Amino acid sequence: MMSDEIKKGLLGIIVDETEVSKVMPEINSLTYRGYAAQDLCEYCKFEEVAYLILNKDLPNTIELRKFEKEEKNNRDLSKDLYSILKKMPKKSHPMDVARTAVSIMGLEDKETTDSSQEANTRKAIRILAKTPTALAAFYRIRKGKNIIKPKKNLTMAENFFYMCFGKVPQKEIVKAFDVSLILYAEHSFNVSTFTARTITSSLSDIHGAITGAIASLKGPLHGGANEEVMHMMNKIKKPENALKWINKALDNKDVVMGFGHRVYKSGDSRVPTMRKYFAKVAKIKKDKKFEKIYDIVEKVMIERKNIHPNVDYPTGPTYHLMGFDTDFFTPIFVISRITGWSAHIMEQHAANKLIRPLASYKGSQHRKVVQLNQR
Ligand code: COA
Repeated sequence: MMSDEIKKGLLGIIVDETEVSKVMPEINSLTYRGYAAQDLCEYCKFEEVAYLILNKDLPNTIELRKFEKEEKNNRDLSKDLYSILKKMPKKSHPMDVARTAVSIMGLEDKETTDSSQEANTRKAIRILAKTPTALAAFYRIRKGKNIIKPKKNLTMAENFFYMCFGKVPQKEIVKAFDVSLILYAEHSFNVSTFTARTITSSLSDIHGAITGAIASLKGPLHGGANEEVMHMMNKIKKPENALKWINKALDNKDVVMGFGHRVYKSGDSRVPTMRKYFAKVAKIKKDKKFEKIYDIVEKVMIERKNIHPNVDYPTGPTYHLMGFDTDFFTPIFVISRITGWSAHIMEQHAANKLIRPLASYKGSQHRKVVQLNQR
């Protein structure tokens, strides 16, 4: 007899094993393939971490050079994709643009139907290389500016700034952006990753799984929170308003974006690192306003609710200070998370079991169909 106990939101359910990352809320730690995320931020650039997530180990110099070459050689888009991007409604949310662009990449990819580990690794690199180009192109198209093609002599982080703004900022800003990519790269069975694994479990392909994962990440309860944080900070406007604003929000029982987490209940392990780089960017930009708002809201959330910030809280204002439009914050998350999603898609393929849970039916009891002319 099957138990009818419902685990809404799959709360507390372990659905599979993974070797990609480990979230350890008890000790506030997160490891990718066994390496602490904060150490990877300190000692590696994003490309090394992308290699690690996809290939299970950190690269040596030769392996990294080969990986980077492949990524750089695949940055450019087809003429068709550039022209489709130009035709997209200018008001489209860039997450929807990213979702559509990856879907089109699937139509164009010569290995779409091959889901072997080798083909999936190659396709993951192509999606990782092309998605920033598609996003940056749309960033400029909607502002009526010319598209800036990718440059092969730049890192992924530098190239994204270059393609969006036409120049690469100082190295501390690039490092802060790179750190955010590392921190966003992978986080176990979160909703978008689980979506990607669910799509994969029917033996569908990597482009489809990543397209679905992008749709999932868009939601404000997941990746979309970094945009919502910025909307909140813009509503608060200045530090003097912060205390009143947050107390009122809590009195109204509002959900405060950028706080809380399904797994971390006493703090998100990624926050201290990102908070440090947020401060560095604020110092360079000589703009401390958002840091002050940040601290006041955080203090009240902890004092009144014992709810701590998640990584979207510091990334939101950091991306704003770097000059990105607010609706590009979650798309930046996409660029990074393509690595984690791809690793999970490959893991799912390697030991697949169709994901198909049960539901407890609470609709009408059995009824007789009455023909249309007698209803
Ligand atoms: N602001 C205010 N209250 C919050 C909160 C927040 N950000 N996050 C959780 N809570 C409260 C809930 O209202 C609930 O209170 P209750 O027990 O009195 O009803 C309690 O804390 C438990 O929250 P719940 O939503 O059940 O936890 P969850 O594990 O299902 O949700 C999130 C996790 C992330 C969806 C939730 O914390 C949230 O909505 N956060 C804001 C969105 C966000 O930043 N998402 C990014 C996640 S990385």
